[in-house]
Amino acid sequence: MSILILGGTGEARALATELHTRRITATSSLAGRVSRPRMPVGEVRQGGFGGIAGLATYLAEHGVDAVVDATHPFAATISANAVAACAHAGVPLLRFARPGWSGLPGSEKWTWVDDHHEAARAAAAPGERVFLSTGRQTLAHFTGPLATNAVLVRVVDPIAEPLPRGWQVLERRGPYLLADERELLRSFRVTTLVTKDSGGDYTRAKLDAAAELGVRVVIVRRPEPAGPTTTTVDTLAHAIAWAAR
Ligand SMILES: NC(=O)c1ccc[n+]([C@@H]2O[C@H](COP(=O)([O-])OP(=O)(O)OC[C@H]3O[C@@H](n4cnc5c(N)ncnc54)[C@H](OP(=O)(O)O)[C@@H]3O)[C@@H](O)[C@H]2O)c1
Repeated sequence: MSILILGGTGEARALATELHTRRITATSSLAGRVSRPRMPVGEVRQGGFGGIAGLATYLAEHGVDAVVDATHPFAATISANAVAACAHAGVPLLRFARPGWSGLPGSEKWTWVDDHHEAARAAAAPGERVFLSTGRQTLAHFTGPLATNAVLVRVVDPIAEPLPRGWQVLERRGPYLLADERELLRSFRVTTLVTKDSGGDYTRAKLDAAAELGVRVVIVRRPEPAGPTTTTVDTLAHAIAWAAR
């Protein structure tokens, strides 16, 4: 029995640990995007597969019996590739998708938008002081519309591209605590938080801090699920049970 975990998330690391404890052979796959990734327990491979065909070839060549897609809810390409490659190779696929934040108290007052472009438009207004926590790969959507705003942008790895003059960069990695998030929003005098519906508890404290301080929230909706008919679970316990079966 050999399982491939498509990872890059805290839940994927937790799943690798649990399977390792149960002596189920699992390999975690990371995209290789961050310079010093947190490494899962057990076997790890890094880097893209080369699209759907590359992933299907990997599954066949490595005798993979089942795939758990535990990637981030916004990693839409790899999830779609997993659906197509598993169907092609005849390998069972489970999607683990952590619950989103739309059920949190106060979420109905947030400005929900469909993409980062719309988020930038919703956030941009003269005088707004923005905390931008949508990730390094999304920055190009914001640098133009928020060029004259004060922006605090939080990323894991350094940003190579030049940023507008009023922007400050904070290099941090979660999880984040409520007290720290509260202090961050206060000290930068944030008026608008821009985030995406990543869900889970790891990065949720900023939303709790924003609610306490009356900070406006602009939030990007999740992409549509890849392969809506794929078996999907939202707890680790269910993912472990599926993999063990
Ligand atoms: N998007 C986010 O906000 C976010 C946040 C936290 C963590 N992450 C993690 O970062 C990684 C990349 O996210 P993304 O949004 O850039 O992905 P993406 O846009 O869905 O994928 C782009 C390409 O990256 C490669 N790739 C992505 N995830 C991979 C994985 N786990 N193993 C091997 N190759 C992978 C694939 O290349 P090939 O086509 O060559 O196979 C894929 O086509 C994912 O593992 C995700 O879980 C993403």
